[in-house]
Amino acid sequence: MSSTRPSPNTATISLPASGCNVNQAELPDNALILPPTHQLQALLTIIRDEKTQRGDFVFTSDRIIRLLVEEGLNHLPVVPKTVRTPVGMDFDGVSFQGRICGVSIMRAGEAMEAGLRDCCRSVRIGKILIQRDEETALPKLFYAKLPEDIAERYVLLLDPMLATGGSCIKAIEVLMSHGVREDRILFLNLIASPEGINNVCNLFPKLRMITAWVDEGLDGHRYIVPGLGDFGDRYFL
Ligand code: URA
Repeated sequence: MSSTRPSPNTATISLPASGCNVNQAELPDNALILPPTHQLQALLTIIRDEKTQRGDFVFTSDRIIRLLVEEGLNHLPVVPKTVRTPVGMDFDGVSFQGRICGVSIMRAGEAMEAGLRDCCRSVRIGKILIQRDEETALPKLFYAKLPEDIAERYVLLLDPMLATGGSCIKAIEVLMSHGVREDRILFLNLIASPEGINNVCNLFPKLRMITAWVDEGLDGHRYIVPGLGDFGDRYFL
């Protein structure tokens, strides 16, 4: 996979013809990757660097999160809307078709809430806490606080790191058990492993996910490699 990426050793790099950092054709149709612009690659390089201090990590992560949220909003349906402008003429535009909400997978997903609020003022935000069950080793729901009318909303599911996909799958099951339609879930993510993408997107083919980058895989501790370490620790501690 890494062979398709621009070489990091050259002074000036060009983007791959596909416009993606991995071959999109190898991924499920419902997984979208942000175009690997020089800006995005530079931002990701900062947050991956072990020497980056918390202030810069937060600032830079927030910029990538903003890119993800803006792209996510592009995928919500709109309906025609005509408005009268101050010069007395009509403009045939659009407005978003339905209401949205954000749902963060705690704790790291909470880092993405502000980016969503910056774009969607007074957006409702729910939270889901999933942890590994000590006895079964399976992801277990510990806490969920969701808007009461979530079944009528489009849901932007927020989690910056997609490793095996276990927590994400559990979170999607929780959303769907509250009546959310699969095709109304948009999963926003900074860095994904190929196995995480396949596990989530193949199990929920109507959901769409948008990620900033697909990494090589997972290490023995289920950390994404090359990754950036523990996102929550670096953002919050
Ligand atoms: N969560 C993280 O914060 N980092 C990883 O590499 C995997 C999951």
